[in-house]
Amino acid sequence: MMMGGLFYNWGLAIAPQLLILIILIHPITAQEGFVSLACCADTNFIDQNTSIEWTQDSQWLFPNYSSTCANINNNNEKSRIFGSNVLGWKRYCYHFNTIKGEEYLIRGTFLVNESSNSNGHYSSSLFGVYIGNTLLSRVKAFRDSVVIEGSFKAKRKYIDFCLEKDDEGDEAYISYLEIRQLQNFSYLSKFPSRIFKLIARLNMGESTLDIRYPNDPIDRIWKASPSFLNGSRFLLDPNINISSKFNSNASLGVPLEVLRTAVTHPDQLVFLHDDLDTATNEYRIFFHFVELNQTVEPGQRLFDIYINNDKKATNFDILAHGSNYKWEFYDVLANGSLNLTLVKASVGSELGPICSAYEVMQVRPWIQESDENDVDVFLKVRDELLVANQQNEVLGSWSGDPCLPIPWGGLGCDSINGSSVITKLDLSEHNFKGLFPVSLPKLAHLQTLDLSNNDFTGNIPSFPTSSVLISVDLRHNDFRGELPESLALLPHLITLNFGCNPYFGKELPPDFNMSRLTTDYGTCDHLDSTFRKKGIVIGTVASGAVLFTIIFGVIYVYCCRQKFVFRGRYDLKRDLVMKDIIISLPSTDDAFIKSICIQSFSLKSIEAATQQYKTLIGEGGFGSVYRGTLSDGEEVAVKVRSATSTQGTREFENELNLLSTIRHENLVPLLGYCCESDQQILVYPFMSNGSLQDRLYGELAKRKTLDWATRVSIALGAARGLTYLHTFAGRSVIHRDVKSSNILLDHSMSAKVADFGFSKYAPQEGDSGASLEVRGTAGYLDPEYYTTHHLSAKSDVFSFGVVLLEIICGREPLNIHKPRNEWSLVEWAKTNIRESKIEEIVDPSIKGGYHAEAMWRVVEVALACIEPYSAYRPCMADIVRELEDSLIIENNASEYMRSIDSFGGSNRFSMVVDRKVVQPPTPTPTEPSPISHELTPPEPR
Ligand SMILES: *[C@@H]1O[C@H](CO)[C@@H](O)[C@H](O)[C@H]1NC(C)=O
Ligand SMILES: *[C@@H]1O[C@H](CO)[C@@H](O)[C@H](O)[C@H]1NC(C)=O
Ligand SMILES: *[C@@H]1O[C@H](CO)[C@@H](O)[C@H](O)[C@H]1NC(C)=O
Ligand SMILES: *[C@@H]1O[C@H](CO)[C@@H](O)[C@H](O)[C@H]1NC(C)=O
Ligand SMILES: *[C@@H]1O[C@H](CO)[C@@H](O)[C@H](O)[C@H]1NC(C)=O
Repeated sequence: MMMGGLFYNWGLAIAPQLLILIILIHPITAQEGFVSLACCADTNFIDQNTSIEWTQDSQWLFPNYSSTCANINNNNEKSRIFGSNVLGWKRYCYHFNTIKGEEYLIRGTFLVNESSNSNGHYSSSLFGVYIGNTLLSRVKAFRDSVVIEGSFKAKRKYIDFCLEKDDEGDEAYISYLEIRQLQNFSYLSKFPSRIFKLIARLNMGESTLDIRYPNDPIDRIWKASPSFLNGSRFLLDPNINISSKFNSNASLGVPLEVLRTAVTHPDQLVFLHDDLDTATNEYRIFFHFVELNQTVEPGQRLFDIYINNDKKATNFDILAHGSNYKWEFYDVLANGSLNLTLVKASVGSELGPICSAYEVMQVRPWIQESDENDVDVFLKVRDELLVANQQNEVLGSWSGDPCLPIPWGGLGCDSINGSSVITKLDLSEHNFKGLFPVSLPKLAHLQTLDLSNNDFTGNIPSFPTSSVLISVDLRHNDFRGELPESLALLPHLITLNFGCNPYFGKELPPDFNMSRLTTDYGTCDHLDSTFRKKGIVIGTVASGAVLFTIIFGVIYVYCCRQKFVFRGRYDLKRDLVMKDIIISLPSTDDAFIKSICIQSFSLKSIEAATQQYKTLIGEGGFGSVYRGTLSDGEEVAVKVRSATSTQGTREFENELNLLSTIRHENLVPLLGYCCESDQQILVYPFMSNGSLQDRLYGELAKRKTLDWATRVSIALGAARGLTYLHTFAGRSVIHRDVKSSNILLDHSMSAKVADFGFSKYAPQEGDSGASLEVRGTAGYLDPEYYTTHHLSAKSDVFSFGVVLLEIICGREPLNIHKPRNEWSLVEWAKTNIRESKIEEIVDPSIKGGYHAEAMWRVVEVALACIEPYSAYRPCMADIVRELEDSLIIENNASEYMRSIDSFGGSNRFSMVVDRKVVQPPTPTPTEPSPISHELTPPEPR
């Protein structure tokens, strides 16, 4: 195949013609593994300078999204613009076939025409560029044209290159898209689960022409180095054949044209990059060195290599092992800037440093795609649906990964063992035609299938007994034939509805167990159509959310009238009839319905309890918090929604919904609420010891210091509370605003996590868009969540790490009144911890009052929690275990010291334990974490 296995699924039908066209013009072998798309091009063409064969992009896009073409310049270059006129889609993908295990380079060129800009094109563009699910870069309009390149190792037999707009109204655009198989060259061999984003690839010495294909067989673009560079250029005498001297096995296939020029300087060469991302990232830097002076002997040219003032190599000698070419790479963490400096060695060197080329890559973690089998099956389902539904708008959004970052329209996904799987398919009421997709029964995790109210026809295929379907709705279609026994007898099936299919057999199999199943197979009666209407409103919400909606509805009905007590479980098979709404309770999520006992208060009683809101004890995003005493003497904290609080209603519902079902000794329980005359009031037990924040560095801290053991036990309590949230009912509730002021202390100093106002379920079916809003408190915010907008429980872990640093250091996460390098607690603590300077950061008020080992354990956990990459952070359950160990050590040490004290010993002291920072456990032990590169010098090769 011409494309070397890199051809497009959807383009197969037209590929042969293209193929012939190109074969006639150019030998096929030359660009094997290349796909070069010229977006919006009118014809395929060949670039005379490079001989690269450019193909029109239209066949590589799925679906044929509505898009427009804009002229960039008079050279007939164009951009494809994905505007705001499409049906709310934000994601546009090009789909390429790849060879599993092979490495590829992918390069997008995003050109802007300034005058088009003023004409309103690109008026408001902000979009992400993705390789699979991994964000490679973000593109902002009104910037210069950009080229974005990444390298990745194919994990599947295809890759999607996607543009995802932030808002529907934005415009995404692209001009060229190139994929290059890296053949025998490997950038990522040790990092299969990373992608490398190209920052720079500079050909030193050359200052006019970029070098690419055909000089570089894999078409990397070696940019001519800027002419203002310090140092003098060194061009090799073209008559000398340097290639014979290269050890070509060791090379990365760098073209000779790149290696035959270099830059040199008698003392030092400095290369600066100061426009990097401000967040801390891992970078990999490749240097290519060639000794171009034929008379130089080993030992005559020695130099030191510094990266950001860190010495990476001493007395580096290009000629040391016989070859006159060497390449080296170094991994560093950097934010904002990189300073690469080559300095002539202080002793013994006659000549200054020389450098032929270097490359800088940003290392980004690979975001896993959804379950491979599910995706493969579902792509087949899509193809089958497409046969009769080319124009269907639902299918129009089905590109890229079916589940991530948000599920395709009509799909619901869940996470099983860390991998996203498809659990729900709801195509109801969307004018689908044609046959039942025969691949659909192969979806191994599908629980809910709703094809109702369409024009499907044909037979229902049989289902494997391994299917985990719980609910199937086929009503109001035109299915023919009989109900397959295999479907009716599925072991997990609870609801099976197939009524109102006029030509469908009504027979149920003889073994059909009526008591187990709810079924509707009757004719199209009135009740049915009532159900249809109501069912749609509710059916589009995630199933868990449905239950909450119901609970909330139930509470509303009883609201402010009487004490509402609801215990026990719903009978899930029974329809709950309320007023004229009929709600069919879905699935078996019965874990959600536990005993709920929430009291409803009258506004009057609230006013009485708080003595007309006399004592204000706090202000939060939700509103003000007042202290009060109920008539039975119980002390309470009363949260009143402020009139200006915009997100209040949603938070109120969140809080009420969540807190009514979530109960744990380390979470603040909800006692009651009041929703009289538009007031939204929540009532909690009063926590007499205030918040952890007050105790650490607030007013209260001045009166009485928290000792170390108490700090650890508070952290442990909070960690247990969060563990419960993160594993709640098999799903994950993410707190989103973990901070020390949200950790409250009851009379016995037991920690209770408060404020679920920002809480949200882990991204799930139906949660479209909600995760795009970054929320939290400055100083605690997970940088990865902030940059990628991907919310996970690990974001809470990051914030919890900051809380741990607070208990260690006794200071606030952000304080701009401190010296610049101490503004951020995280950065300041991290720097000191790396240098093993724990004493420097420990809260002076607990100095000498802790066991060093117990302290170290907490420090290590904190360090792991604040890893920039969420994949390296531990989960809350691991944190609980570590904190438990720390507390045991601390308590044992206290016991021991007390026993010494009773013999007239001295005061407590901290034992000195000689320890270095050890690596936090990483989920993928084969891959070093970014930190390790900081701590250990790279191994000599
Ligand atoms: C080909 O290269 C020349 C310079 O060598 C340049 O002026 C011209 O624009 C290039 N043509 C194309 C189509 O890139
Ligand atoms: C998509 O392609 C079909 C035919 O394949 C065509 O009828 C339809 O108009 C196209 N839609 C758009 C939005 O271009
Ligand atoms: C921008 O595009 C217009 C046509 O849309 C073209 O006439 C103009 O020359 C282009 N501007 C530049 C700078 O190439
Ligand atoms: C080449 O190296 C020799 C020393 O071996 C030195 O004297 C000479 O100046 C160098 N030539 C250049 C152009 O740097
Ligand atoms: C770059 O690093 C070198 C060596 O550490 C140092 O001497 C120099 O001052 C640095 N330059 C800048 C601009 O930071």
